Amino acid sequence: CGIVGYTGVNNALPFLLNGLEKLEYRGYDSAGVYVHTDDNRDVLVKEKGRVKDLEKKVKEYDMQGKSGIAHTRWATHGQPSIENAHPHVSADGRYYLVHNGVIENYKQLKADYLSDVEFKSQTDTEVAVQLVGKFASQGLDTLAAFRKMINLLDDNSSYAFLLMDTKQPDLLYTAKTKSPLLIGISETGNVVASDAPAALDLTKDFIELRDGEIAVVSKNDVQLYDAEGNNYTRQPFHLDIDPTAADKGAYPFFMLKEIDEQAIVTRTLIEHYFVNGLPHINEKIIQAIKQSDRLYIVAAGTSYHAGLIGRRFFEKWAGIPTETHIASEFAYDRPIISKKPFFIFISQSGETADSIQVLDFVQKESYPSLTISNVMNSTLTRESDFALPILAGPEIAVASTKAYTAQIMTQVILAAAIAGGHSELQEELSRLAIDLQAEIDGKEKIKQIADKYLVNANRTFYIGRGADADSTLEAALKLKEISYTLVEGFAAGELKHGTISLIEQATPVIGLISQSKMAGLTRSNLEETMARGAKAVTIVTKNLATKDDDIILPALTGEMEMFGPILEAIPIQLLAYYTSLGRNLDVDHPRNLAKSVTVQ
Ligand code: G6P
Repeated sequence: CGIVGYTGVNNALPFLLNGLEKLEYRGYDSAGVYVHTDDNRDVLVKEKGRVKDLEKKVKEYDMQGKSGIAHTRWATHGQPSIENAHPHVSADGRYYLVHNGVIENYKQLKADYLSDVEFKSQTDTEVAVQLVGKFASQGLDTLAAFRKMINLLDDNSSYAFLLMDTKQPDLLYTAKTKSPLLIGISETGNVVASDAPAALDLTKDFIELRDGEIAVVSKNDVQLYDAEGNNYTRQPFHLDIDPTAADKGAYPFFMLKEIDEQAIVTRTLIEHYFVNGLPHINEKIIQAIKQSDRLYIVAAGTSYHAGLIGRRFFEKWAGIPTETHIASEFAYDRPIISKKPFFIFISQSGETADSIQVLDFVQKESYPSLTISNVMNSTLTRESDFALPILAGPEIAVASTKAYTAQIMTQVILAAAIAGGHSELQEELSRLAIDLQAEIDGKEKIKQIADKYLVNANRTFYIGRGADADSTLEAALKLKEISYTLVEGFAAGELKHGTISLIEQATPVIGLISQSKMAGLTRSNLEETMARGAKAVTIVTKNLATKDDDIILPALTGEMEMFGPILEAIPIQLLAYYTSLGRNLDVDHPRNLAKSVTVQ
């Protein structure tokens, strides 16, 4: 979920709505806004659906006022609906609250303190605002009531809260633990937001709020309090980011723009990470990794898939045993950990709650850690020992594309640096950038294949072996998440052990073939499906291709075969894009998903 609030000298509503649009990557199944108006009314508007639906609805209201809070939701407790949308209001109408995170013990709190209160929603958040209302009605001032509520949340809970008191409508009360939140300051007013882009129209100066702290924000002041109530202030920091970088330009969808940017990102990575032709990474990182006996890569979703690919480079080039783990699994079901582990977190956003949960554990055990991320001022990059940027630029489409290839390449560069050089890598990556551009330029062919075989299919399978097997997982995720069809990706040899029974007339089975040792075997597996009616589609590197293959990728020979998944990324992303487009879906905003999942 995304939250934003404003208190200042200007009209709050346009700022809040614009902020919500910037935060939609965090969820978009419903949205809401509360404004305290200049003529002293409290106006709350909520709507199911996207921020633009809320924008339509607010036109019916007079909401001229200089303070307010707003929220865009990704449902956890309670289905997407107007009632469950934030802000939530206390029973007496005094307090309005928005929340990002999960209150794990909300049922218990409800039973213990609020049995006499009638609830309007099924959310955990409403419990929080009702508690504040109750404690205030018992005589506590707002700050004390807010703090008392926060102190009742159990350790597993996560929150970023933004609270307004209708009796002090120029103040924003805010607090966070395990969910991100920034306070932006400017001459004309102060703001609170889940992420900097929501505030950039007003300011690039921010005050960091730490876990467990409460801030009371007025239009010209920010006061901080710790859990015991001690009061202090903190110096702001200046954030150097370009607010125009996230512009769609002439593209119909961000996803296509971001697919197209992958050659440029490759060049940016080369420029950043190479000095005199050799990969250059902070020596402290290299030393810390060299002292370890095993690497643990931890990530979620597409970043997890990038970690699967990266693992091969750390093992083959750097010679370090490496395991890649799904963050949400590792957090609660850990394997035996080696004597000297080193943890690598991979996260586009740096805000994925599942990964943050693992980092908490890693820090408690004092294990060294590195985060590879697209957002250098994110929770994961700030809190791990080291951070490396993937330099992909803002990624807006929910389906991750350029971040995936940039995450793989950053790992490749890191593995080479640990190995002490790899003098051809710069040249190899430069060639890869040219190859990626050629693939991007050939997108028309991919569109034809998507239209012909995938748009009307209700199920599709991706198969491959070795690094190509890893690649099938990302191929399947990309296609299923934006086409809403069933897609599975797996090791080609496994087909005959079960999945082959799902093959029907014209079921597409897409073979990824870039590993010479196993090319023949994957082709045999494709034959087996064709014998049962499947439509086999091949994506093959040129050196392994025949004239009958469907999508031919640039050649990769010798050691460069390891880059197969990078070249495969473009066609698998484009196949997903054109299938979603052909099915008339909202490519950039698939239903039920969020760009950044800030709950576990
Ligand atoms: C969400 C996104 C995925 C992404 C995953 C991990 O589920 O929809 O595209 O791969 O989170 O996100 P991260 O920011 O940690 O890479």
